[in-house]
Parts: sequence; structure tokens; C-alpha cells
Amino acid sequence: MCGIVGYIGKEQAAPLLLEGLSRLEYRGYDSAGVAVYSQREGRLNVHKAKGRLKILSGLLGGGDAVEGTVGVGHTRWATHGAPSDENSHPQVSRSGKIAVVHNGIIENYGELKAFLQSQGVPFASETDTEVVAHLVEYFQQDGADILTAVGRCLHRIEGAYALGIISADAPDQLIAVRKDSPLILGYGEGCSFLASDVTAILQYTRRVSYMDDGELAVLTRDGIQCYNHLMQPVEKEICAVDWEIGAAEKGGYEHFMFKEIMEQPEALRRAVFPRIRDGEVFLEDFSLPEDYIRSLRNIHIVACGSSYHVGMVGKYNLEKMLRIPVEVSLGSEFRYMDPIVDGKTLVVVISQSGETLDTMAALREARRRGAKILSIVNVVGSSIARESDQVLYTWAGPEIAVATTKAYTTQLAVLNLLGLYLAKVLGSMAAEDRREVLKDFLSLPEKLERVLENKDGIQYFASQYFNRDSVFYIGRNIDYALGLEGSLKLKEISYVHSEAYASGELKHGTISLIEPGALVIALGTCLRLFDKAMSNIVEVKSRGGDVLALTTESRADEMAKTASGVIAIPDAHPMLLPLLGAAPLQLYAYYVALMRGCDIDKPRNLAKSVTVE
Ligand code: AGP
Repeated sequence: MCGIVGYIGKEQAAPLLLEGLSRLEYRGYDSAGVAVYSQREGRLNVHKAKGRLKILSGLLGGGDAVEGTVGVGHTRWATHGAPSDENSHPQVSRSGKIAVVHNGIIENYGELKAFLQSQGVPFASETDTEVVAHLVEYFQQDGADILTAVGRCLHRIEGAYALGIISADAPDQLIAVRKDSPLILGYGEGCSFLASDVTAILQYTRRVSYMDDGELAVLTRDGIQCYNHLMQPVEKEICAVDWEIGAAEKGGYEHFMFKEIMEQPEALRRAVFPRIRDGEVFLEDFSLPEDYIRSLRNIHIVACGSSYHVGMVGKYNLEKMLRIPVEVSLGSEFRYMDPIVDGKTLVVVISQSGETLDTMAALREARRRGAKILSIVNVVGSSIARESDQVLYTWAGPEIAVATTKAYTTQLAVLNLLGLYLAKVLGSMAAEDRREVLKDFLSLPEKLERVLENKDGIQYFASQYFNRDSVFYIGRNIDYALGLEGSLKLKEISYVHSEAYASGELKHGTISLIEPGALVIALGTCLRLFDKAMSNIVEVKSRGGDVLALTTESRADEMAKTASGVIAIPDAHPMLLPLLGAAPLQLYAYYVALMRGCDIDKPRNLAKSVTVE
């Protein structure tokens, strides 16, 4: 979603802001802008353009045409007002002296706008953000300094926001504010940064701190001072980011998505190997007491999108391992559904970014009801990680493509490891059964490499079917959960209509859609239900549909007798098969999108991290 970068230092700000914004392009956006203070002119110069960042960068000669050493930049993903130059950020106050970049939504902007208009303030955009610029200026009418005015403004605005504010009257500082939308502070030599995402400033500094909700920061060339909501100074812990810059670059691949698909075996090794020792699971810094685990009545998994699909697989596996009820809810539903969650419920929150607003809101609702929160997160220091009682990181490294791949796989792995750990504490699974799964776990990265080696085979199938307008994914049990993810992958990057169904539901309605030309991707990795999968394939074929099937190597020949095409994955423990089965589905979606000429890493209308409701 929207991205923020801010810089104050001795270098020219504009090239640096544009470079930082380019690192945030993956988040999804529709327009971009910068505001830079010119010492010579004694004013802010604001430049904005609808469309890709390269348009803005072209207008500004890569930033060389803009003079000044302090500024803010923004990539906007439209919420209030269509993508346009006027609605792009920075938004400025009437005098042009205050410029604001904003991620999130000001929920009471209508009321504030009416108030400001009644005071004669003219509005130039349809955005909610513009009220912030005008309101700060309004609160300076009595001569208040910028910090005081921003503080007053915060008492009036409601909603979720990360703000970067620059004032021509106080050009030796930048103001940063955070509430429910991430903001990171960066510490350099003679310079300071702010950013919505660490990737924006990684090439300039690795020393960062994470703003907490309600905090305000003043950035100068000499350092950063943070304040809490009472405007009392707070000391921030400075962390060293150990992500390699190269990990957030394409490294010779045409697309981040393809690179990240290929990185999965390595990501799995990082997520799994250090957590298995002597045939047992070890979860680092695990602090939930065993008595508490034994007292659990149920587990409730909460997540959105692909992370929710991980939860769906988790429900099947965890219930098998733990023999206690496991419910899975979408973050956006959980917060409004009066869930049955209390001190005897462990809420497992799954999120790649750790910043998804609906998931975050669900976490807070669960905590309010007395549950403990265990999160499975990729981004270190993210909001969800910091608000959880226990965090298990997926260690997948930066994931840039909007369509998640390696984060999905590592989330699955970590959730299974968590299940095995809890099963040991609960005594719900025999030791040899746990060891059997763990043994197979260790062979997964190498098996996944074999799956990826077959990419040309999957590309061939994509070339056969890429022009189909509608695709159905069917499967039973854990294959159904995997189908949900395969279908999401296809639709989000190739814009092909696709839906996933539990195979048994075909006869209850969906089968009416099967006719010659329909493509069905039948998942048959759940071998105890193999015969059922075969029957469903026959049903589809006899109505003229084409069936591309996915199963394990041991049953591939049998399936090939019926299906139109078969993709085989190595055999493994049944609970772990989705870890191997996801990759062919990711590759299939990737090649279809490639053949349809889609913008794979930045699909239309989508954002990597969904920080609005
Ligand atoms: C998946 O490819 C999507 N990009 C999306 O569904 C994503 O999984 C969802 O928005 C949740 O994101 P999170 O894991 O960062 O919370």
C-alpha cells in the first residue's frame, strides 16, 4: 500500500527520496510525489505525478532538478479520491508551508473538512490527508511551533495513520507520527530517515528503530527524539537490520516472484533446520508455560489472504496432532463476529508483513477477550510481532512480489513445527509419529528443489491452458486448503477467474459450470482419498472439461490414465505435502501471467501489505 520516505541530512534529498520510493514500489501504488525544502528559495517545492514512479522521476531528472537537503516522499494507493496529480501526496496547507505524507485513513476527515471549510480553508484534493496539512496550519495561527501544532492536530484526528510532516518555517526538522500504520526511523551519520518499510532506507543505514502507536518523532541532522502521546520523551531501542540488500533485489531474475519461488528450498532450510535437533522440535525463546498449554480448550487461527490459507491447512494438521478444536477465521471477519475466545484459547496470528490491519485488529480483539497471542511473522519488528506474547519468525527473508510464495511455504512449515511442539507438551501424538514427521521435514528442501527442477514441465501445461477464462481448483481435505491458495495465486497475478472448491461440493452446484473448455486443476496429494479424487476427475472429464492433476510420484502413472495432464511431486508425510504441492501451483500461475502479459510483481489494484480496512 502507500509508502513513505523522509530524509534530513547533507545530501540532496530528492534523488535519495526517489531511490527510497523505488524500493517501495512493490507495495502497490498509483501515484507518487515528493516535497523538498529549498534553502535558497526559502520554500517547499512539491512535485507529484499520477502513475508509475518513473514518470515523476523523469519529470525531476532523477531528482537532480530539485534542490534541498530535507524532504518527504510518498507512493499513494488511492483510498479517498481517484488516482490523480491533485490527490497524490504530499498534500499541502493553504500557505504551501506545510506538506504531509500519510499512510492509512483519517476516519473523521469529513467532519474536519467541514470545520476547516467553515473557517474559509479551500481544499485542493479529495483526500482525507489534506485535512491534516490544513489542521496543522490552523493550529499554528497563535504562533505555536510545528511540534505543538502537530500535537494539537493529533487530538482531533481519528483513524489509522503514519505521517511524515515538513514545514517551511522549521526546515531543520522532520516530524513523524505513528498510529496503527507502520513507521520506521533510520539513524545515519549526520542524517536521519523515516520510512514505512525498512527496504526503503536499507542502502543508507541499517540502524533503525520501530515507532510505537501514539508516538511522535522529531528528526534532525543530529539525531532523532521520540515522544509518547503525552509528549514525554521516550528512549527508542536501536536495532541492526541484518537483511542483505541483495535479498531485496532481483539478482538477474526477470521477476521477484520467480526469484522468490526459487528461493523456497533455502528459505525452508532457514525456517526448519535450526528448529529440529536430535529428533525433537526446539522453538527459540518459547515462553508459553507448559501448564498454560495443557489448559488450552481450543486454538483459533486468524489471518488474511494466503496466510489464511496456511491456517486452513493448519486446521487439518493441528487437529490431527493435538485433538483439540482448531478454528480458522479471516482477520476481517474475526473482529466483528463476537468470537468465542478467552483465556483458554491460544490465538495464532499468521502474517508475512506483520502489518495487515485486519489481522492486527483481530489480534487486539482476541487480546481484549483474554487470549494469549502467538504470531507467525516474516518481518522482524513488525507491529504484529511486537504486540504478540510469542513470535515465531519464518526467516523467509524480504518478500517483494505482491503474490506471496516463500512466505506461504515457510508459514506452513512453522505452523507444523508449532503443532509438533504442542503435541509433545500435550502428549497427544506418539513420540515415534512425531519423529517420523520431523525426519521427513529435514528432507523437504531437497525434495522441493526437485519440484522446482520440473519448472519446464509446468511451463508446458501453462502454455496449453493459459487462455482459459475460468479455472476451478478442486481437492479434498488438505488438498482443498491447498486449492484455495493455488486459485488465489492464479487470479491475483493473471486476472483469470478462478475458484477453489472442496471436491465433494462439485455435485452440489458447481458441476453445472463444467462444459467443454472448462479447466479443472485437481489436487490429489492426499493419498488416503486418492480414489475419491479419481472419481471427481472422471466426473469432470465425462462432461468435457480438461483436468490438470497434481499428485505424488507414487500415484502419478495411475492418475495420468484419466487426467489430461499430471504434475508429480515427491512423496512425503501427508501433513507436509502442501509444502511441496504449493510450488507447482505458484509456477503455473506465474507462467500463465507471463503468457498473458501481466505485470507479475505488481498486479493491478493490489498492495503487498494491506494497511487499511
Ligand atoms: C497473497 O499472495 C496476497 N498477497 C495476500 O493475500 C496476502 O497473503 C494477505 O494480504 C495477507 O498478508 P500478510 O500475510 O502480510 O498479513
